Amino acid sequence: MKQESVLNFLRDNQKHFVSGEELSIKLKVTRQAVWKEIEALRDLGYEIEAQPHMGYRLLSVPDKLFADEIQHGLHTKIIGRKVISYNMVDSTNDVAWKLGEEGVREGAVVFAESQKKGRGRLGRSWVSPKGKGILFSVLLRPEFGPAEVSKVTLAAAVAVAKALREATGQEFKIKWPNDILYHERKLCGILTEMSAEMDRVKFVVLGLGLNVNTDHKDLPTRSISVKEALGKEVSRLVLAKTILEKLDKEYQKLKKEEFESIAKDWEYFSGTSGKRVSVSLLHRAVEGRALGIDRDGALLVRKDNGTQERILAGDVKHLRDSPGTVPGRRP
Ligand code: BTN
Repeated sequence: MKQESVLNFLRDNQKHFVSGEELSIKLKVTRQAVWKEIEALRDLGYEIEAQPHMGYRLLSVPDKLFADEIQHGLHTKIIGRKVISYNMVDSTNDVAWKLGEEGVREGAVVFAESQKKGRGRLGRSWVSPKGKGILFSVLLRPEFGPAEVSKVTLAAAVAVAKALREATGQEFKIKWPNDILYHERKLCGILTEMSAEMDRVKFVVLGLGLNVNTDHKDLPTRSISVKEALGKEVSRLVLAKTILEKLDKEYQKLKKEEFESIAKDWEYFSGTSGKRVSVSLLHRAVEGRALGIDRDGALLVRKDNGTQERILAGDVKHLRDSPGTVPGRRP
């Protein structure tokens, strides 16, 4: 708590030095205690200048996903009301699930620098070297039925594509339902899990894994990181906050039943619509041309025999013959 207060005070006065005396009076602790907190902050990676007779000045904050740093200046209504960050957990989805069972309000976000048992869709695992990616799970309590939960996932993919565009100036594509690709290589995946009764969702845990500053050698084949796409490192902190802000906006649209507008934006970023695809379902595969998503977020595929399939869940592979998508309006 004291550490947080020292940090906030330095942050609010970043343009000039703050004397040890001023800090000790404001925080009602000894100057010795102030020095101890400054040292602890330096150990965490904060760069703090100390000048005799002048005091302390915050020079830079580390690119770590600390809860305080994420919440500082975060412009959201729901997402990030509560932020918890860990160095290492089994899976952030498990931690957020527990919060859901404990009745925590929606919007809580759990971050981790690394995971021991990171999960992906369809029983796959999600591996990310420590401190290189963005790994978080959000607890949501949408007031709709289980069948509509896929809309949350699509909305999250739109939020990530918008955040990446804002943070990097590059366009990224969505592969149905919610993988984010750069030139057909995956850099972000979303795993949505829900606790529900027949007709009521109790809570949803939306887990997101994004390769940010990961080196090529540490990535699975056909994957990419933001660093590799841009040729330079980016701030995970800035990107994580931008994603939460965009997610908050899209989630509010969902709450106001504005899925149509989300679907339009999804189509804009879609790398699937218009492409030939092969979709693996539970017991069979469907091949044809992806037409886009319908009003429920299902993928429509026109097979070569002319019939159309409506796909609610499956694993999509983009096939070679791909005339590309018809450009839509820029959301
Ligand atoms: C996928 O593409 O298969 C989804 C990957 C989702 C990975 C994230 S990382 C944070 C959260 N915790 C997990 O265990 N999984 C999700």
